[in-house]
Amino acid sequence: MNIVDIILKKRDGYKLSNEEIAFFVKGVTEGSLPDYQISAFLMAAFIKDMDTEETASLTMEMARSGSMFDFSQIEGFKADKHSTGGVADTTTLILAPLVASTGVPVIKMSGRGLGFSGGTIDKLESIPGFNVNVSEEEAIAFAKKSNIVLMSQTDNLTPADKKLYALRDVTGTVDSIPLIAASIMSKKIAAGADGIVLDVKCGSGAFMQDLESAETLASVMVNMGRHVGRKVTAVISGMDQPLGMNIGNSLEVIEAIEVLKGNVGGDLLDVSLTLGAHMLLLAERVETVEQGKYLLEHHIKNGMGLAMFRELLLQQGGNPEILNDYSLLPLSPCTKTVLAQKNGYINEMDTALIGRASLETGAGRAFKEQPLDFGAGIIMKKRLGDSVKIGEPLAEIFASSDEKCTSAANYLQQAMTIGEEKQPLPALILKIID
Ligand code: URA
Repeated sequence: MNIVDIILKKRDGYKLSNEEIAFFVKGVTEGSLPDYQISAFLMAAFIKDMDTEETASLTMEMARSGSMFDFSQIEGFKADKHSTGGVADTTTLILAPLVASTGVPVIKMSGRGLGFSGGTIDKLESIPGFNVNVSEEEAIAFAKKSNIVLMSQTDNLTPADKKLYALRDVTGTVDSIPLIAASIMSKKIAAGADGIVLDVKCGSGAFMQDLESAETLASVMVNMGRHVGRKVTAVISGMDQPLGMNIGNSLEVIEAIEVLKGNVGGDLLDVSLTLGAHMLLLAERVETVEQGKYLLEHHIKNGMGLAMFRELLLQQGGNPEILNDYSLLPLSPCTKTVLAQKNGYINEMDTALIGRASLETGAGRAFKEQPLDFGAGIIMKKRLGDSVKIGEPLAEIFASSDEKCTSAANYLQQAMTIGEEKQPLPALILKIID
């Protein structure tokens, strides 16, 4: 088999066989293919597309390119969840302890943030002492004891995806539906989940900016799950404004704790309950989504979700005192408040630009190796549809210097549109595909 023939075949729009895709992924993993041939393949796949069978082959070959985790010795259905990435999207820190507290084991491998999108691992690392580097053996021991593990993707999880993602990032081939689907699903399959709830974000702060492309991506991933014997549900949810009010690592931990304490409601809670309820449904812990939401809300009211979060902190070295004393979490010293420059209603938010503002504070990274300021970020004061008066705060910024605050404030001013008439609010849960 020859890589040039494979590239030509895809370039000319033909379907690749399992063997050809396996040959390509093996070459990527072993390092025998040069970057220019891998990139040519990616561009051909981007332009000519891949069908479900090709995408499923790519997914499984990428999943097998490293360790395949086996959590079969943990009793019960292991439910996982993945978000395609958004701003103030802290749902994992809320739903993982809630779902685990109902008896469904949650062993979740998460990634770090990149660009406008935050990452669960960075948020957890903002908690003093919290250890995200957990081995397979430790994960099994933790899950048997407590039902919950939140851990970093190990180095040997889908090495082919790491290589392909890095090249996609610099060759204009990130936003290809089959390549995104294979990247996400290969990691989830290798991570050993029995069922996966996908949160496919749609809107100004998401990879998929319109419902049609979000639906296509969701359907491809759900079909692929069926193809490879995993139960998959996709929830398409809106990202036309930050999901929660806090953006930034320790700030998002605080908001998640407030939700678990029952002090904060709104979109972040609604999406967390919806995703969590679908995890319970996949695990057959409940019979309907409504029952699932009810049970999870009950576990907020009776404190079982918060108790599970505390258990997670104790298990993985995090200081449990943060639950009662947020001053134990980092907070950057310089602040700036962004004020409304006219009266009216918040009619539009460019969420990617708000994510960019968060990057300016130091809370996010523009490139993979960039260090983070865990105490930096933004507290939003307004949501879409809110009325504002001139001089009223729109957002509060935290950063390590006044320059960073000013730079973030400029992006925030551009990102929020104030109009004279209130516009209809966008839907939060746009579609469920299962
Ligand atoms: N998230 C991933 O893990 N991979 C992609 O390709 C896009 C989003």
